[in-house]
Amino acid sequence: MSELVTLSKDGEIGVITVNNPPVNALSPGVPEGIAASIEAITKDDSIKGAVMIGAGQTFIAGADIREFGKITSGQRKEGINFHMVLQMIEDCPKPVVAAIHGTAFGGGLEVAMAFHYRVAVPAAQVGQPEVKLGLIPGAAGTVRLPRLAGVARAVQMCADGNPISAKEALESGIVDAVVEGDLLQGAIAFVREKIASGETPRKTRERNEKLGDEASNAPVFAAARDLAKKTARGMMAPQAAIDAVEAATKLPFIDAVKKEAELFQQCLFSDQSKALIHVFFGEREVARIPDIPKDVKPFEIRKAAVIGAGTMGGGIAMNYANAGIPVIIKETAQDFLDRGMAIIRKNYENSVRKGRFSQETMDKRMALITPQLTYDGFEDADIVVEAVFEGMELKKQIFGELDKICKQGAILASNTSTLDIDEIASATTRPEFVIGHHFFSPANVMRLLEIVRGKATNKEVIATSMALAKKLKKVGVLVGNCNGFVGNRMLHQYGREAQFLVEEGARPQDVDGALYNFGMAMGPLAVGDLAGLDVGWRIRKEHAHLRVAGDRYPLVADRLCEMGRYGQKTGAGWYKYDENRKTIPDPEVDKLIEEVAAEQGIKRRTITEDEIIERTQYALINEGAKILEEGIALRAVDIDIIYLNGYGYPARRGGPMWYADAVGLKKVYDRICRFHEEHGKIWAPAPLLKKLAEEGRTFADFDKQK
Ligand code: NAI
Repeated sequence: MSELVTLSKDGEIGVITVNNPPVNALSPGVPEGIAASIEAITKDDSIKGAVMIGAGQTFIAGADIREFGKITSGQRKEGINFHMVLQMIEDCPKPVVAAIHGTAFGGGLEVAMAFHYRVAVPAAQVGQPEVKLGLIPGAAGTVRLPRLAGVARAVQMCADGNPISAKEALESGIVDAVVEGDLLQGAIAFVREKIASGETPRKTRERNEKLGDEASNAPVFAAARDLAKKTARGMMAPQAAIDAVEAATKLPFIDAVKKEAELFQQCLFSDQSKALIHVFFGEREVARIPDIPKDVKPFEIRKAAVIGAGTMGGGIAMNYANAGIPVIIKETAQDFLDRGMAIIRKNYENSVRKGRFSQETMDKRMALITPQLTYDGFEDADIVVEAVFEGMELKKQIFGELDKICKQGAILASNTSTLDIDEIASATTRPEFVIGHHFFSPANVMRLLEIVRGKATNKEVIATSMALAKKLKKVGVLVGNCNGFVGNRMLHQYGREAQFLVEEGARPQDVDGALYNFGMAMGPLAVGDLAGLDVGWRIRKEHAHLRVAGDRYPLVADRLCEMGRYGQKTGAGWYKYDENRKTIPDPEVDKLIEEVAAEQGIKRRTITEDEIIERTQYALINEGAKILEEGIALRAVDIDIIYLNGYGYPARRGGPMWYADAVGLKKVYDRICRFHEEHGKIWAPAPLLKKLAEEGRTFADFDKQK
């Protein structure tokens, strides 16, 4: 028997323990160990029944995700036939019970469903989350689950991938009992009862009573397909999962398993699944910072302060309160403070109304936020996050004040979205404690936190920021200091191309529509209207002196602002808006665009959807390659994680750099060279892109060398 799975005895009951820390994943050796245990139990006359339990914190939490990549890249050796292992469990002549604590997800739930019975502790969760990796259950999950839980529940779990609680699992028939107290003892007592009752062990695969009939199932599948179309736009796995469950209701068990295997293979070898697995590992990879070893100890953050209760400051303060950290929020005037606190309160009230948490939780969170107009209490804050207007002089003044008030060792963070962190740090006597914490709007919702390292920022401050991001339930990505850092620097190129395309012949809705179809949460022009076109306009006016004469400059957005069209807040921008904020194309804008094009001597032409995608995506990629080469981002995957979590980039594309690899760097590079010839120096190809393309390599290869 393998060390990963052991068999012991409690009297006449066999106890199989899976011991593959940290999450008892189904790595090679685990299924073999379970099979060997079941065989031993079958043969040993002194054993009358058995229980399987996970050692440590959880039951089998799922497949070993690294194995998927090994299969698609052809590296995996043929392993044991997992279906056969499940059938062995099911065919065991003695009653066998899966005892679930922690999570039984994916392959873990599929194993549990092959047992004759399942018991779980109240805090346990079960689920089939494969769709989140672009997959479907591959070990008869879609075939056994409807037999236990009924069709509607099975479809929902396989298509949305969200876990359910032990209580819900009990109600739907996935588990047979919830065990209070010691799980192993409870499970042993359960199996002893079953032995005493003389009940014949039930094989899940033979249970057909919940499979319904075609007439009653048809609307369930239709509704699930519609929902998945909306909530998982462009994703193939949820639709495949629904197809598989449908097959389970129509075909004999063994044929349904074959159908599931077919669909599983299609998903596994799809670009979508590869991209989503890349994202899964990427989120873990970004936490690794080569020059900051794990033994650099983060500081404890027990108290925080935020300066500015505007759009960002309020959301940032909520993050701290949500994590249980008391936070002061400081403003310049009572009105602004009241307005900021009212928005925080309204956000929390909405969450309570939607049932996300209780009124009591809301009250606790509100009580952790102290609004005030002074620096009282800043002296013992462990971190201060500045979120005042975007202006260097103001930021420097504030950091100078903080330097005088804050204790030594406090982290002084700025939420600036573009400004030079080193210059801000120069206003203090302790630049090693200054860092950028660039949250994204709405800060209480968006998962991304760009952590901007200044040239003096010390390692403990970085390690603390990364740990803090996790505590605030954000994905922290460390970036270097430059104008716009990683995300906004790339966005600038993307937005520019979107506007040039409009000047050259596309309509705003063509550009936004193509990018929406590509999978972006929103098109860039609609995003501009949402965020307020005046914000960028002000920045452009401030930086007007940096513009080089003769360089092409996107004019339409400025003209829209001059007309008072700031976007949704003024009821008009790139589009018109009705009272429901519905986007309506506006002939007046089309006229303006034509005028601006004529003024600049641009001959308008037909622009294809492909060109829209290439111009905008390759602009992101080219800038991303420059950012990588300069070391502003540590790895290509860091850029991907930034775009997925801060900019509505579709996860199924893996992020802009992964998308570039999927298209092929040679093709991307060749197109960029063409754009360079047609549109001039803004399209100068990044040397790193050129090098990788010529060497036939990818950004993923580049990351491997890091
Ligand atoms: P905002 O204009 O909504 O809020 C700024 C707040 O700071 C105002 O309420 C103002 O009264 C207050 N304030 C100004 N001077 C102050 C002082 N001396 N002491 C205390 N409070 C003061 O601006 P927003 O959008 O929240 O931006 C804040 C910072 O966050 C800027 O640096 C901005 O670049 C950055 N940022 C903004 C994002 C956005 O989407 N709005 C996204 C990411 C970063």
